[in-house]
Amino acid sequence: MTVITNIEDLRLLAKRRVPRMFYDYADSGSWTESTYRANEADFERILLRQRVAVDIDNRSLRSTMIGQDVAMPLAIAPTGLTGMQHADGEILAARAAKKFGIPFTLSTMSICSIEDVAEATGGHPFWFQLYVMRDRDFIARLIDRAKAANCSALVVTLDLQVLGQRHKDLRNGLSAPPKLTIPNLINMATKPRWCMGMLGTSRREFRNIVGHVKGVENMGSLSEWTAKQFDPRLSWNDVAWIKERWGGKLILKGIQDVEDAELAVKSGADALIVSNHGGRQLDGAPSSISALPSIVAAVGDRIEVHMDGGIRSGQHVLKALALGAKGVYIGRAFLYGLGAMGQEGVEKALAIIQRELDLSMAFCGRTDVRQVDRSILVPGTYPQ
Ligand code: FNR
Repeated sequence: MTVITNIEDLRLLAKRRVPRMFYDYADSGSWTESTYRANEADFERILLRQRVAVDIDNRSLRSTMIGQDVAMPLAIAPTGLTGMQHADGEILAARAAKKFGIPFTLSTMSICSIEDVAEATGGHPFWFQLYVMRDRDFIARLIDRAKAANCSALVVTLDLQVLGQRHKDLRNGLSAPPKLTIPNLINMATKPRWCMGMLGTSRREFRNIVGHVKGVENMGSLSEWTAKQFDPRLSWNDVAWIKERWGGKLILKGIQDVEDAELAVKSGADALIVSNHGGRQLDGAPSSISALPSIVAAVGDRIEVHMDGGIRSGQHVLKALALGAKGVYIGRAFLYGLGAMGQEGVEKALAIIQRELDLSMAFCGRTDVRQVDRSILVPGTYPQ
């Protein structure tokens, strides 16, 4: 492939370059994958109004998310095992985000640790995503480590107390590092770039966790470990405790329902993310873009509303902003770039989306992304 024009090109290249186990981990949803598919498909039903003969000379995509300046209202979503899509993946994605002037969110389940990313990006602030585990001492220490690393927001994920079943991960025996079974070895032998990268780094396990939790030297399979360690008792009381311990900007991730959005407002968090975890948890839940408008209508300006799920283009970003999101996150769109071409691929993904967003906004006759609202959409084509 010579010219990369869109995110789909990056996906196809990633599929060629990343071992099957990790490519499948990214490109899958739970059970029938209906919510995973709907996240993307529901964007296509929403139509944009083309306007002409409007002065669109000076355009700006600059905005803010939780009061922080962003070059465009888009952040990198937390994704587990990112350092398995490409060696040192979290570091590379964080560097790309820094270069672009957008937030990077590091997952609890990352390969590179909080400290690795802080060091590799020269102490530039990033966001840290927290999963709540049974071992509360460990959680307290993770929060303190995020503070020490200059993280400027804590993103608490509320929709993964139990793990959605993803068939491909079970079949592939997903683990980090991958088990050296004959089928895995055969598959990895066809991915020389990936193998060379992995041989060149020492970061091949969950470095936020291994060595920091008593008794965890080796995590075995991800699904077994999650079942043992993630806390199914998580409640709004824990959110209050975390908020107090953290003391900084707090974002709640995984809100899909208006009643939960109300509770998120009550918790005093700075933002909520309308998200169904990229269709990886409750299969049969509504797409994120269809859940967004009612949540925006319910909470008004009492809390900032962000969204993620299904964003593969700048047009998708524009539609989410039009329906009231103050900012959006990309998961797979950046993972495909990373798997395809490392840091350059993440930068490519961001540049593609930025350009699509800028041009689409211009075609709608608008010049300032902060002024975009539902008047740019064709009535009757968008969810209420
Ligand atoms: C995720 N997601 C996720 N979320 C989170 O809070 N912590 C995590 O560790 C992960 N891990 C993870 C791994 C992979 C491979 C994917 C694809 C997703 C969910 C993620 O933050 C986000 O909600 C979705 O990825 C958004 O959907 P799109 O952009 O991937 O369609």
